[in-house]
Amino acid sequence: LNNGVARTPPLGWNSWNTFGCNISEALIRQMTDAMVSSGMKDAGYQYVVVDDCWMNPNRDSAGNLQGDPTRFPSGMKALGDYIHARGLKFGIYQAPLDKTCAQYFNSYPGATGSQGREAQDARQFANWGVDYLKYDWCSPTGTIDDQVRAFAKMRDGLAATGRPIVLSINSNSIHSKTGPQRDWGDVSNMWRTTEDITNTWNSGQTNGYPMGIQNIIDVTVPLAARAKPGAFNDMDMMEVGRGGMTDTEMRSHFALWAILASPLIAGNDLRNMNTATQTILKNANLIGISQDPLALQATQVSFDGTRRILAKRLANGDVAVALFNQGTGTTTISTTAAAIGLSGGSFTLRDAWTNTNSTTTGAISASVPGHGTVVYRVSGATSTPTPTVTPTTPAPTTPA
Ligand code: GLA
Repeated sequence: LNNGVARTPPLGWNSWNTFGCNISEALIRQMTDAMVSSGMKDAGYQYVVVDDCWMNPNRDSAGNLQGDPTRFPSGMKALGDYIHARGLKFGIYQAPLDKTCAQYFNSYPGATGSQGREAQDARQFANWGVDYLKYDWCSPTGTIDDQVRAFAKMRDGLAATGRPIVLSINSNSIHSKTGPQRDWGDVSNMWRTTEDITNTWNSGQTNGYPMGIQNIIDVTVPLAARAKPGAFNDMDMMEVGRGGMTDTEMRSHFALWAILASPLIAGNDLRNMNTATQTILKNANLIGISQDPLALQATQVSFDGTRRILAKRLANGDVAVALFNQGTGTTTISTTAAAIGLSGGSFTLRDAWTNTNSTTTGAISASVPGHGTVVYRVSGATSTPTPTVTPTTPAPTTPA
């Protein structure tokens, strides 16, 4: 969507994966503070997204949405102000029909969806200082055309406010009919490619609920051509740091979300992150690959059912390559500079995880553990290599 925002995949945090409906103003403020104190903000994370269950089940006398008075006693505008005061951006959740997902599928009370009130709700969001709207289809029925009409009404409502707001959509429970079948870049900045993610490596299905990490990758790789500035395949909020996977699997999860140009929306508790989680989520090499201004999604170079090679062209002429082992045992994965689109006789490989450089005349290869991913940023002989150390000013020499 050409609305000036999300020119590269958005980075942020969302409340749903860890907290579900157990959210409050105090919790979101703590998470905002943790975004800053943990270094996540400095690493590039911006959006603090309040997912479902923030609403008062009733609109006010003018028909405006309002926050739940018990969970958000200071109101949603005050929460946005708190987030903005810390240099971060405010995201919120809403649904296009009559009910949100928690109101539809769970026992959360009320029916506060935006159907028929898109322009009014968009104005309310803009008044609260909302910078990001997650707009989530919640009904087991409907067609692609129904969804396009509904999402476009909110797209137009947001545009009419004049405030730049990222529009994140989800086809949700009718993904089998809608998700992969359509390029949603005309109505949104990001669109979910599958039903909900779960905190596990493989859920054994590519269509339905829940989806594992491997399964979301399988569905999203073929959709690469849709990614561009302002428009991204959304692989869902991340499960890094939630304990359902090995560190190797969490590294693959993050590396593939980054190289596949998915939004990087953390879903863990930012107040308690162990070292492994922090090292993964703040990896500057991978965030750099994710945030490259060309905003391309990696395309598949080869896949033999176990060894998957993906490559993403970058703005300075470098190419990022992922050597992803979908099997369970360690294996060697190999490609060449020529196969990923580089010509020349000498290349630098920067390993995104070890942050070390090596050189090659063309062979690109690594021994990769089961479910692991090695990522190299490959620079050709003619492009400027990334310095590994910050140059220091030489000490002044004392004249004799
Ligand atoms: C749907 C979405 C989730 C979350 C919940 C909230 O399931 O896909 O990401 O927003 O609704 O109810």
